Parts: sequence; C-alpha cells; structure tokens
Amino acid sequence: MDKNEGSQSKAGPESPKPLENKTIVLGITGSIAAYKGADLASRLTQEGAVVEVVMTKEAQEFITPVALGALTRRPVVSDMFHHAASHQITHVNLGQKADIVVVAPATANIIAKLAAGIGDDELTCTVLATQSPVLIAPAMHAAMYLNRVTQDNIGRLKERGVSFVGPVEGRLASGHFGPGRFAENTDIIGAIHQILGRKGNLAGKRIVVTAGGTQEPIDPVRYITNRSSGKMGFAIAAAARDRGAEVTLVTAPVSLAAPYGVKIVRVNTAAEMFEAVAAATASADGLIMAAAVADYHVASAAANKIKRERGTLTLELAPNPDILESVKGDFARVGFAAESENLIENARKKLEKKRLDLIVANDISATDSGFGSDNNRVTLLSAGGKVEDLPLLPKSVVADRILDRLVSVLREKGHSIH
Ligand code: PMT
Repeated sequence: MDKNEGSQSKAGPESPKPLENKTIVLGITGSIAAYKGADLASRLTQEGAVVEVVMTKEAQEFITPVALGALTRRPVVSDMFHHAASHQITHVNLGQKADIVVVAPATANIIAKLAAGIGDDELTCTVLATQSPVLIAPAMHAAMYLNRVTQDNIGRLKERGVSFVGPVEGRLASGHFGPGRFAENTDIIGAIHQILGRKGNLAGKRIVVTAGGTQEPIDPVRYITNRSSGKMGFAIAAAARDRGAEVTLVTAPVSLAAPYGVKIVRVNTAAEMFEAVAAATASADGLIMAAAVADYHVASAAANKIKRERGTLTLELAPNPDILESVKGDFARVGFAAESENLIENARKKLEKKRLDLIVANDISATDSGFGSDNNRVTLLSAGGKVEDLPLLPKSVVADRILDRLVSVLREKGHSIH
C-alpha cells in the first residue's frame, strides 16, 4: 500500500481555513477600489472568517450590499438604523464582537472623520466603539494622499495604535501614477494575519528562514540550480509571522510574491546565501533552512558566454561550504533533509553531523511531495530522539507543525514563550 494512502483523498489534502473562528468587520467606503473590497470579503470568507460588512452610503454608489451579502453569506449593514427593529445598537455590537476591524478601501474623508473622532454613520461609529485592532487600507488620488491634512490624520491615527497597509505607488483611477493605489488584497490579508498573530507563541522572537534553490553560475547566462520553488520556505516565513515573530526570509530566486510583513533578502548563489544567513542570524533566536543549497559551484565560472564547440564540455565543480553546519551563533537550528531513499537514516545522520535541534526529513519520493508541490510529506526528528511522522499535508500546515516543534526547542533552551 502506498504510504500516503488513507491520509488524504485523490485531490490532495484539504486546505486549512486559517481564519476559522475569527470575526472580521470589513468597512467599505466610497472609492472606485470598493470592487476590490468585494474580492477581499470573498477571500476572507474562504479562509473561514465570519465577515461582517459595513458599507457607507457612498460605497453603495460603486457596489451593492446584495453582492457583499452573497459573497459573505451574511447580512450587510448599509444604514445607521438598519437593525433598529432588533433593539440592538449595531455599531457597539459589531465593535465588541470583532477580532479586527478593517476599513478597505478607506477614503481621505473617512480617515479625516476617524482622526477627528466623528461617528456619524455605522462604520465610523463601529471603529470608535471597538477595543479590537483596527487596520486601514487607504485608496485615493496621490494629491489627496500627499496632502498635509491627510498625512496629519494618518499620523494621528497611527499614534493611537491604528495600523495601515498601503497605499502603494502605481496607476490610479484617474490615469495618473503615484502613491494612493489600494494595496493588493494578498498584502491586506497578510497584514490581518500578522495583526491577529501579534501575541502568538513566537512574539518577540527573531526567526531566519531560507527558501529556494541557489543558482551557481557557469557563465554570464547559464547556471546550475535545482527544482526548489521556494513554497516550503515561504510558507514557514508566513506562519512564523502569524505567530508574532520578526522574520527574515533569505531566498534564492523564486517566482513567489514576498509575504507581507517579512523582511526579504534576495540572493543567487550559496556563497551569497551564507553571507546573508550569517548577517541575519547574528541576532536571531532560530534558523530554519528550507532552501535547497547547491552542494557545488563551478570552480571558475567563465567571464564571457561559452561558445558552442564540437565535442564535450567539462565543468569542474568545487564544494560549497555547508551553511547550517558552519554558521556561528547560539540559536535554535532546524534543517531539512530532502531524501529519495533511506529517509530516516539519512536524516538522522544530517541531524547529528550538523548538530541540529530538529531535522525535517522530507520524503521527495512520495507522490505530490517536496520540490514544487503545494504539499509535503515529512517526518520530524528531534535531537532528543522524538520522531513525529506526518501524513501528506499542505505546506502551510507542515510549516505550523515545524513551528510547534521550534517553540518546544526554544522553551527547552530557556526562552520565555507567551
Ligand atoms: O522549495 P519547494 O519547491 O517548496 O521544495 C521544498 C524543499 C523540497 C526544497 C524543502 O522542503 C527541502 O527539503 N529543503 C532542503 C533541501 C536540501 O537541500 O536538502 P539537503 O539534504 O541537501 O540539505 C540538508 C540541509 O542542509 C538543508 O536544510 C539545507 O538547507 C542545508 N544545506 C545544504 C547544503 C549547504 N551547502 N548548506 C546547507 O546549509
């Protein structure tokens, strides 16, 4: 029987719902970006959140409450006296039950009202009534955004603990380019995860993660690399951020978007990765090496493009230093072992040789596991001898299981964990 049989359906393991049990109040205001607010509502609902949408009168000029109600499968609050019949004060009720209040998109006008403490509609009253974190994603013309009054208002709200995501520079609805463009929904969702995880069990910890396959040049246009997509390392970086860690992600070239709220350091070669890891770990509590680092580089890469000639071409390869084994410092060390045979035996050898606290034995012979896949089949081996065999799981879930073990390692090393 296949070792993965029984642990998941043919379609692969089920995706997790990271926002399950969270209530998000989403305020949508009168900006052309309101349609992106609808997509945001849908994506948060798909992640398992209960999304309570509050729309200003102006927002309803761009998009209807019916659309938002259909996307969230919830009633939408679209006027101040909406729930008067139920004898509940909606904004107080919403403000209290929210885990986070998100205003996206937020106009200059709504930001001005919030900075001045004016509550004259259901959304401004909800923001004033809540004790929960507030996140604002502005969207407006560059001139309005850069206006001193708007900047002062944003500054005042930040001083009171309100978080902002964006705006970013780019094309504006007017056709101009500049700052004021609504942040990408992926980044807004990243900011929501980061805020909700602020008090997680890695709060205050500095974690360095590596990802991707290094590229070792042959000449100016060719290189040696491997099939790593970076998905595993990026998933770990995002999961550590969502537990409150300050994360540095050292990545070889990949085609993935940088996770919001993570410091990203881009490198090409194993030598560059070594340098970046050494710098980042100088003040780190933990290092997780998910990168597929090339074991060799071309001894003398050609300065010019190698011409095609008859006969064979021989490249001399020289060994790269082992980053995990050689990087200095007193931090928790987690390595991976990508193995196609003798998984546990080979992983245990690497655990001992590299003096690691934990090794993630990665079964790359299993179907849909390892390089490039969205899923991974791993066994976690601790220095203390504990072995945890996991079924095929989405990489985001594997990331969380690795971090559960990292938290235990940090506790054993005497770190205080919330
Ligand atoms: O990126 P994805 O497509 O999501 O795929 C994920 C992955 C399969 C790349 C990842 O899960 C994984 O297994 N990464 C480790 C791959 C690897 O290079 O394993 P290794 O057994 O050769 O190396 C052992 C450990 O030493 C690794 O943690 C590696 O990062 C580290 N190493 C290796 C060589 C080197 N010169 N320096 C190192 O630090």
